[in-house]
Amino acid sequence: MEFKSLQPGAAYFYYPRPLCVVGVWDGKKERANFVPVAWGGPLASRPPLFGVSISPKTYSHQLLVQTGEFSLSFLPWQDVELVAKLGSVSGRDVDKVATFALELSEGEVVAAPFLANAYVAAECKVTERHSLGDQTLFVSEIVRVMVREGAFAPDGTLRVEAVAPVLYLGANRYLTVDAQSLVTLPEAKV
Ligand SMILES: Cc1cc2nc3c(=O)[nH]c(=O)nc-3n(C[C@H](O)[C@H](O)[C@H](O)COP(=O)(O)O)c2cc1C
Repeated sequence: MEFKSLQPGAAYFYYPRPLCVVGVWDGKKERANFVPVAWGGPLASRPPLFGVSISPKTYSHQLLVQTGEFSLSFLPWQDVELVAKLGSVSGRDVDKVATFALELSEGEVVAAPFLANAYVAAECKVTERHSLGDQTLFVSEIVRVMVREGAFAPDGTLRVEAVAPVLYLGANRYLTVDAQSLVTLPEAKV
């Protein structure tokens, strides 16, 4: 097999990955803003930490610094176009809730609402902020998880036969999972 040497960034080897939508209140709690984030993921289980890497150029960045908390919504495949649209405009210029007729749900701990159509949502409080090159990593503690009935199996795994998550492949390409490929393997013994 031949390999070709490429510059970092020429191949999106870290995709596909699940897309989440970060929701943040403005400082006055008058308007919530929502932004799709591909560069987000779990960081620790005890305490439960989740990181989102956000560009300082975004309105969401400004709001996250101001409020220190956010919601994470994971939307089903039928909302893929909405997810893309939320990333095509800035909350500085448009009210995304009104423009895209977003239906919101209240969280229990964090003031920022989440998207009512989410199959799961998490409430997060920022614990650390790190400037990393052209991004900021917001490390946050997950303080609540709101799960839609039937979305998760008793062992905590997503029921992919019931829920089709939105994954991102880079370059405006999106996909969902193929539930037919699901296998449960015996625990590996070393
Ligand atoms: C699929 C997708 C994934 C994105 N992932 C990120 C991300 O991880 N971090 C980031 O800073 N911007 C990301 N963006 C870009 C922001 O969503 C975009 O700049 C948005 O317009 C910012 O909105 P705001 O100014 O209302 O915060 C992504 C956009 C799309 C379409």
